[in-house]
Amino acid sequence: MPRIFVSRALPKSTIDMLTNAFGDSAVAVYPKDQVIERHELLEGVRGIEALLPILTETIDVEVMEAAGPRLRIIANYAVGYNNINVAEATKRGIAVTNTPGVLTETTADLAWALILGASRRIGEGERYLRAGNWKSWAPQMLLAWDVYVKTLGIFGMGRIGQAVARRALGFGMRTIYHSRSQKDAALERELNAAYVDLKTLLAESDVLSLHCPLSAETRHAFGADQFRKMKRTAIFVNTTRGPVVDEAALAAALLSGEIAAAGLDVFEHEPKVHPELLKCENALLLPHMGSGTIQTRTRMAEIAATNIVEFLSGRRPPNCVNPEVLRA
Ligand code: DGY
Repeated sequence: MPRIFVSRALPKSTIDMLTNAFGDSAVAVYPKDQVIERHELLEGVRGIEALLPILTETIDVEVMEAAGPRLRIIANYAVGYNNINVAEATKRGIAVTNTPGVLTETTADLAWALILGASRRIGEGERYLRAGNWKSWAPQMLLAWDVYVKTLGIFGMGRIGQAVARRALGFGMRTIYHSRSQKDAALERELNAAYVDLKTLLAESDVLSLHCPLSAETRHAFGADQFRKMKRTAIFVNTTRGPVVDEAALAAALLSGEIAAAGLDVFEHEPKVHPELLKCENALLLPHMGSGTIQTRTRMAEIAATNIVEFLSGRRPPNCVNPEVLRA
């Protein structure tokens, strides 16, 4: 009987998928509704075959060592897997899986909530009203920036970037994008999107939304130099990973008016938010809610469990990010 460790309580239906396949005593679930302490994680993984972590857990050499040589699969409960040392897992022959696809539309919706919210000063407006400052309708009150027919810039045109661009069609926007590779002409036509170099993306975007994965190349890809090259009326949105942005530089750009506003769902040191960002009235800040709908979070859990069930049953896990460890 294999042993499986789940590092955070997930829907019962998901745990049932694992216990139905391997028996009740095969599955241990961290019982508290809080981030697992590092020593509890190191203890929990001892001797397991499969680990189902969430993105708050760093799965590094120490965890793999603590698990021991029987560990064969790490099924992340997220599409992003920067919390896992995949190179080390691959070296040890451990399969790593993620949950792509299901959260594309949900995350694109939230990116749009931030695009509209930051552009139209929704957070500031609500704070103003709740503070009792609203005395009358006024021609100059909380004036903001139009989104309709403006230029949307996308950095990272993967699944989520494309879904964000598709929604922009409804706003009559033109999309420009910068990505690792140019997309095919049919997709560019469908999305009314043009590939541009980074310089053009920075200079021409009215709204700039990040959708690249976090990697060595994208870490702090947006800093003082990039903000300086953007329009003073630009709206900057990040729903991917916090470390893609130099937060001190972003806060400085927001406070000095170098750019107009930002909408952020992710931060470099979650759940800590850079203190300078908290000072920015023109930043709309959310606690990493991009995939947070009931349907999507349930599907993510099911996908993570499916990857474990398939793999431990001798079949290919559907969402392996290091397929070189799977034997043909
Ligand atoms: C992911 O799956 O990577 C998301 O950030 C979770 O919301």
